[in-house]
Amino acid sequence: MSILRWQSCRIERGFPNGNLAAALSSCSREIMDTIKGEQLLAQLNWRYATKQFDPTRKISPEDWAALESALILSPSSYGLQPWKFIVITDQKMREKLFPATWKQRQILDCSHYVVFTVNTKMTEEHIDRHLARTVEVRGGTVEGLNRFREAMAGDLVTGVRAAQAHEWAAHQAYLALGNFITSAALLGIDTCPMEGFNAEDYDEILDLTAKRLTSVVCCAAGYRSAEDTSALQKKVRFAPADVIHIV
Ligand SMILES: Cc1cc2nc3c(=O)[nH]c(=O)nc-3n(C[C@H](O)[C@H](O)[C@H](O)COP(=O)(O)O)c2cc1C
Repeated sequence: MSILRWQSCRIERGFPNGNLAAALSSCSREIMDTIKGEQLLAQLNWRYATKQFDPTRKISPEDWAALESALILSPSSYGLQPWKFIVITDQKMREKLFPATWKQRQILDCSHYVVFTVNTKMTEEHIDRHLARTVEVRGGTVEGLNRFREAMAGDLVTGVRAAQAHEWAAHQAYLALGNFITSAALLGIDTCPMEGFNAEDYDEILDLTAKRLTSVVCCAAGYRSAEDTSALQKKVRFAPADVIHIV
């Protein structure tokens, strides 16, 4: 969607606070100004797991707003969004989390540090919140969605997958992580996905357990330091024939 069309959509739909995610969900789907495959691949090759961030460079509020929207727009199974994205901007909190992050400096030096957390259990209350939101956004009635409600609850709250609902939720968080990393790369923003942290410590320090949340994975975002020699390393990937099988 061109910027002009985008802005007029926001105005037409009347989002006074300019909330990108809200605006997007209410826009009709239009033909976008797409990018070429070579542009996409240029950005995907430019991206690497950044080891050293430049602590003096911060993501602009506009770019950060777009990245927040990219998080919110991430797809999830049933659309249930079983997550909260905790953005750690407070430097004291980052220092507290540093030892539990295997002393990886990315948490200290990046611009924005995101902890991807998920619900420890899927509940009927969460499903009802999602259905109420669906009615708010799309109209209709909650009663009209009852069969959908039963299907979701019968699967994730009372069904065979209920015991693994936390694992199911973690899969969704990884989708959001991938969406975040690629979106950042398209904006020229560096990231480092991070599993190198102690989730139990994070849950305690961030007081997640009381909120029935648990940390799954993290991502540092910002700008690479000119001294990060990892940026110069060639990508190591299996040959296409090893990983892509056409049947
Ligand atoms: C889920 C996940 C967790 C990762 N955890 C860490 C980490 O804790 N620290 C780190 O420096 N890199 C981490 N990485 C980066 C990977 O090592 C890196 O993505 C991989 O070697 C491929 O390199 P590239 O991303 O630079 O292409 C992680 C990557 C992923 C996808």
